[in-house]
Amino acid sequence: MTVSRIAVAGRKGGVGKTTIACGVASILASLQSRVLVIDMDPQSNAAYVLGADPTKPGTASLLGGNKPEPLNVVDNLSVLPGGPDLMNHSIQSCDQEELADAVNHMDYDVIVFDCPPGNEHLERLAIKAADTVLIVSDAHPLALVGASRVIKELNLNNQKGRKGASRWAIIQSKIDARRAMDRTFDADLAESFPTIQRFVVRQDTQLSLAAADQIPLMTYDAKCRGAKDLKVVAKWGIDG
Ligand SMILES: Nc1ncnc2c1ncn2[C@@H]1O[C@H](COP(=O)(O)OP(=O)(O)O)[C@@H](O)[C@H]1O
Ligand SMILES: [Mg+2]
Repeated sequence: MTVSRIAVAGRKGGVGKTTIACGVASILASLQSRVLVIDMDPQSNAAYVLGADPTKPGTASLLGGNKPEPLNVVDNLSVLPGGPDLMNHSIQSCDQEELADAVNHMDYDVIVFDCPPGNEHLERLAIKAADTVLIVSDAHPLALVGASRVIKELNLNNQKGRKGASRWAIIQSKIDARRAMDRTFDADLAESFPTIQRFVVRQDTQLSLAAADQIPLMTYDAKCRGAKDLKVVAKWGIDG
């Protein structure tokens, strides 16, 4: 049985979900946890940035009732690629608990689901399969709209006693204190969501270079600012 299942979500594209999902996965793998990244994105960005072949059978095959072989990235870290098959009608109309059922047989210490932008169904599959959600938003108001929608859905699920994540935090992403909007973001969140735990991941070129070079964060630069911030997030993610 898998011990921790963490979904990284946020609705908006480009806010840092894949960077955070893969960074957290790399950190936990470096701490000797056996980690699987499940890429929920039709664009298969997580597989790509981890240096795995994004065209190999992965999450869509899993949701189709098969047992695709996860692709090994480094010791303790593997990935099931996303891909365009995730847009197939059979998957877009599948039961909301299909992924939760499919990962039940898996034996990892941690599964990290990297949610796509925009596609609520694929995101919902991950949220139902997860116990923890990292809700990613940068300081832009449109990103916060996306994050707020995820929070609303999580609250509703919990109030109704539905299956799925029971704990979540907001990850303020790409934060650069030179920008006025970024400086006030934490206080704005504290006012809007006073009971939700908040973390900050600062803007760090090393994070984007690791992704561009398709090298897991801890292999690329274990000591960079981004890795430091993500270690705090990763620790909270598995402390359930
Ligand atoms: N903290 C960060 N510092 C610098 N660049 C970042 C950071 N987080 C993400 N990026 C860059 O921003 C872009 C979008 O990030 P990504 O993780 O792909 O977003 P999403 O998965 O939400 O669409 C990428 O080019 C990525 O390298
Ligand atoms: Mg992404």
